[in-house]
Amino acid sequence: MGLRKDFLWGGATAANQLEGGYNQGGRGLANVDVLPIGEDRNPTRNGDVKHFDFDDEHFYPAKVGIDHYNRYKEDIALFAEMGFKTYRLSIAWSRIFPKGDEEEPNEEGLQFYENVFKECRKYGIEPLVTITHFDCPIHLIKEYGGWRNRQTIAFYERLVRTLFTRYKGLVKYWLTFNEINVILHAPFMGAGLVFEEGENKKQVIYQAAHHELVASALATKIAHEIDPENQIGCMLAAGKFYPDTPHPRDVLAAQQADRRNYFFIDVQSRGEYPSYALKELEREGIEIPFAEGDKELLKKHTVDFISFSYYSSRVASGEPQSKEETEGNVVRSVKNPHLEASEWGWQIDPLGLRITMNDIYDRYQKPLFIVENGLGAVDEPNENGYVEDDYRIDYLASHIEAMKDAVELDGVDLMGYTSWGCIDLVSASTGEMKKRYGYIYVDRDNYGNGTLKRTPKKSFYWYKKVIETNGEDT
Ligand code: BG6
Repeated sequence: MGLRKDFLWGGATAANQLEGGYNQGGRGLANVDVLPIGEDRNPTRNGDVKHFDFDDEHFYPAKVGIDHYNRYKEDIALFAEMGFKTYRLSIAWSRIFPKGDEEEPNEEGLQFYENVFKECRKYGIEPLVTITHFDCPIHLIKEYGGWRNRQTIAFYERLVRTLFTRYKGLVKYWLTFNEINVILHAPFMGAGLVFEEGENKKQVIYQAAHHELVASALATKIAHEIDPENQIGCMLAAGKFYPDTPHPRDVLAAQQADRRNYFFIDVQSRGEYPSYALKELEREGIEIPFAEGDKELLKKHTVDFISFSYYSSRVASGEPQSKEETEGNVVRSVKNPHLEASEWGWQIDPLGLRITMNDIYDRYQKPLFIVENGLGAVDEPNENGYVEDDYRIDYLASHIEAMKDAVELDGVDLMGYTSWGCIDLVSASTGEMKKRYGYIYVDRDNYGNGTLKRTPKKSFYWYKKVIETNGEDT
């Protein structure tokens, strides 16, 4: 009993939230670089703002991130000290293809990730690589409309062929798109979509989603061809929807809200568009741009495992009048009166993780991988620069306990757990540094002040013990 012997404990990050070095090594710009901190970040998330470059009025946190580009050795050494078995990171597409449509990749970008993977391997850390974590090169957005255009599949194909070939033997676990369902909720930040005046946004979103789904199946095919050892996962921003009350109207609303997100994984894991989605899209006059061969490709090249992020459960109501809502991982939810919330209003529900795991496992019957989970909180270092983050330890310990219950009591097959932001990094939704998730404190504030010095927090030593005991000692 217990977790797998080879359970992959570790932490997760994303290129644009920690690397910085935005103009180093021949890198190009991506949608995620031009998101400033502050008010103007929000409209951009909705895809209504045409921000394609930096201006002098705003502060752009992705430019420097936490300077991991220049300090990756120090950071990976700290992960190794905690005993990480795996490290989830993402590739910045625009490091490899700065504009996105070049014929040849940028060697400096390729070399950077090769160095990172070798550094991981030096400590026996297995890299888990997200191919795109929300990023799309700006040039592809400006010239082609990004994912709304079918041609982007070919550019992505070039990217994945390059990666699978170059990193054969160095990387085995890949995720095709981070939180693929976020395209519904934050189309610019999540997929670089920008809408034209008056156009049907839902049509554009589902068209772009179709292209991503085809690209994901194609990547799965190519990965297996290049190296049969490769294991490909999809990635869902998960969190079960509960009905607001036992009223059947609320139960139906919760089922529909879940399906809106599961839709993507249904295609990636079962290999076809689910009937409920086909009906809904047809009713609304949305056309899915199926090209010849798409259906066969989707059917044949389904993912090997299901990865997901979990921060909170959600609540749906079928009542016509609106209910009090709460913030959450870009997916809006009705407020749950039974749950506490973080300082950013994200509700805390460890049992919801067990429920969500069971829901996903029942649906797909493939191994699961929790690739994000954690608490965004304000940390106050003491006079020695040390952070006693018991609140973070409590959050993580209770979620790990619920995760173990799903495995030990319910029989869910789980490959690993990587908590989010294992080192403090820039928040995706707000652009803040103040919203910290890490085991390692980074001395930097919201507007770029600080030495960037790294200091282990209390949770660092706690997590080290969790890993050492394979989750027995939380
Ligand atoms: C997930 C993303 O949605 O949540 C991460 O994959 C993100 O990129 C994480 O950082 C936490 O969200 P936030 O907004 O607190 O950074």
